Amino acid sequence: MTAPIIRQLAELRAKHSDWIRAGERVAVVPTMGALHAGHLSLVEAAKATCDRVIVTIFVNPKQFNNPEDLANYPRTEHDDAIKLAPYDVDVIYVPDPDQIYPGGFATNVSVAGVADQMEGACRPGHFDGVATVVAKLFLQTGAHQAFFGEKDYQQLLVVRRMARDLDIPIEVVGCPTVREASGLAMSSRNMRLSADGLVKAGALHPILTRLAAEVSAGGHFADLKKQAEAEILAAGFNELEYLSLCSAEDLSTMETAEAPVRLFVAAWIEDVRLIDNIAV
Ligand code: PAF
Repeated sequence: MTAPIIRQLAELRAKHSDWIRAGERVAVVPTMGALHAGHLSLVEAAKATCDRVIVTIFVNPKQFNNPEDLANYPRTEHDDAIKLAPYDVDVIYVPDPDQIYPGGFATNVSVAGVADQMEGACRPGHFDGVATVVAKLFLQTGAHQAFFGEKDYQQLLVVRRMARDLDIPIEVVGCPTVREASGLAMSSRNMRLSADGLVKAGALHPILTRLAAEVSAGGHFADLKKQAEAEILAAGFNELEYLSLCSAEDLSTMETAEAPVRLFVAAWIEDVRLIDNIAV
């Protein structure tokens, strides 16, 4: 059976009060819908540790710096509810837009530091939009734990920083990226790729994996980066926005793997912007 869809905050709060009175632990899995196996792995992780699971679906206009991207973002609420049915979640919260951004809404949550580089630099305003909506979803759901995929690793750090800084009593849990057989990170954007584009995009992960092995073996990123960039373009990507080696803790730029580091990439293929990252 599909889970109840709630669109009004008051209704969500009533359910939440019952759960808290019964001493239950509540999880939230924030999404923008177009659910895939990556999202479903977050739901599984949430179910494993909490009594109640809320999946939120809200295509958040505030985090899109490109109106075309917002217009093209897949909206598949009916299919999403069907995909969630086997997981027996307690609520699918699909807030009406005015439940998130009521008339006169004037607050912006802006995180500095971990939000400044990579996605923050390439998509001005993006992380303000993410931090603002996630802060609202944390407060509205009153969840004890929130589950995010490491595929958006920078987002995970931004959200964790925001929750700590604002004293929101929630544990932000990061879960491993789920990948296609080719290694391509699962993403709602993949559904906009042609069959050929999907095959080409599959080249990204093996290139990152090899580069990670070279850095891990003591190589200097600056010496290895050019070759990897050329390979990504030769694989069929039209444009590379960044290929970076950063600290896994604070995302500062790194040159070697002497501390925990990750490789991050953003690249365009067939007018679709893909991001990925892996631990070195
Ligand atoms: O990762 C996403 O799908 C979105 O950025 C999130 C966290 C649901 C906020 O809108």
